[in-house]
Amino acid sequence: HPATLQETFKNDFYIGAAINVNQIKETDSLMAGLLKKEFNSITAENMMKSMHIHPAKDSFNFEIPDKFVELGQKNNMYIVGHTLVWHSQLSPWIEKIKDSTEMHHAIQSHINTIVGRYKGKINSWDVVNEALNEDGTLRNSVFLERLGENYLTTAFKLTAEADPDAELYYNDYNMCQPAKRDGAVKLVKKLQENGAKINGVGIQGHWNLNSPSLEEIEKSILAYSQLGVDVAITELDITVLPSPWDLQGADVNQNFEGNPKMNPYPDKLPDSIQDKLAKRYQDIFALFLKHKDKIKRVTFWGVNDAQSWKNDWPIKGRTDFPLLFDRNLKPKEAYKAIISLK
Ligand code: XIL
Repeated sequence: HPATLQETFKNDFYIGAAINVNQIKETDSLMAGLLKKEFNSITAENMMKSMHIHPAKDSFNFEIPDKFVELGQKNNMYIVGHTLVWHSQLSPWIEKIKDSTEMHHAIQSHINTIVGRYKGKINSWDVVNEALNEDGTLRNSVFLERLGENYLTTAFKLTAEADPDAELYYNDYNMCQPAKRDGAVKLVKKLQENGAKINGVGIQGHWNLNSPSLEEIEKSILAYSQLGVDVAITELDITVLPSPWDLQGADVNQNFEGNPKMNPYPDKLPDSIQDKLAKRYQDIFALFLKHKDKIKRVTFWGVNDAQSWKNDWPIKGRTDFPLLFDRNLKPKEAYKAIISLK
């Protein structure tokens, strides 16, 4: 098939992939080649998270992030910075701050230094990541504790000042669950009322073969876009493996490592599941196409199955098949199912 993902959807939305150091340094040149051919947007999978980019108060690691931005620029890609304010993979020095003024200064220097460095180069920032609980209330974090709920407005305003042209996103998971959706709508409205610029809502899209339903996904696309902002699917992957949370009576903290029930396809995905995955991706993309006027970008959380974090989360050492390219970088049935929509 001559068409690529980016060509197929060029009039609809950007097609992105999260990448890490392998693709950037082109240590894996086949993978890097595939990335440039198929995708027109990249997101930093880990390298711009605070523990990596800002490990100590006066220390920044820009070597890999600089190469990431260069790669995107060279290939005319829509470049996404991920992420500025997040409770996870957080620098220990920020986590330890006890004083509110000090916390404000930490966020200010973090945002000014990083966003300022890539001003005019990074197209979009995930300004705040995962600030909500499942019931739609604000997650308790070191940011909420030190600065109160205004930390969100502060983060968006500081980012807008540091790069007025960047598009600013709020990004989270389970964004198609009703209670969390309501919470996200409230959060965006609050930012808007407070005069902060917000351009979009990121629906991460760590989904499985059944959930969330197409109806709930559609409700979320509509609800967010009605706020006057863009919608992006920012971290799409569809696991085919059972989740410990779905096991009746299972304790999530229980150790599932090495449990064969939790790793049912150690060698190869059965054709029947391959087909289900293709159908699921096709249904989802048909919905995205229906709402292409509202959707700015669809980004996969990785290029191929071997790269996916889903092999190790929430249980380590499994064999998952959540993406469009297999372990040999060959397009899967799901890839063909998506391309065939056009
Ligand atoms: C994940 C990365 O893919 C892993 O490599 C890392 O070990 C943990 O974080 N939500 C997010 C992403 O916003 O940053 C996370 O990425 C996946 C969940």
